[in-house]
Amino acid sequence: MDLLDQARAVRDKAYARYSGFKVGAAVRGASGRVYVGCNVENASYPEGTCAETGAIAAMVADGETRIAEVTIIADSPHPISPCGGCRQGLAEFAGDETLVVMATLDGQQATATLSALLPGAFASGSMAKRR
Ligand code: THU
Repeated sequence: MDLLDQARAVRDKAYARYSGFKVGAAVRGASGRVYVGCNVENASYPEGTCAETGAIAAMVADGETRIAEVTIIADSPHPISPCGGCRQGLAEFAGDETLVVMATLDGQQATATLSALLPGAFASGSMAKRR
């Protein structure tokens, strides 16, 4: 299964009982292994987590810290792009040129580099003068 198929499959498992909006994410680590995540909502709304967050957590739990490629999918009028927090989350483990594929269930697809989604990202290097 490619990234898109894996993101579509995990989207079905999303726990989105409050928004009714299911999202699936699949990231390929530098090793080639694929990690998936779905959004998991909570009765205390702000405690919910995004699909991308779940996929990143699965990757890190497996000992990987570099993302080679990302795909997210939702049932939306247009491909959704990662929320602001998830862009920052991806930037921690991906490069400026890492491709983020955004897809809809009905077959639309858009692709952007991470730096196009999060220009001027705050990163570890931003704190080079900390002491
Ligand atoms: N959501 C994601 O999982 N990823 C995104 O990038 C955007 C939003 C989820 C969060 C919430 O469970 C639902 O979509 C509606 O915002």
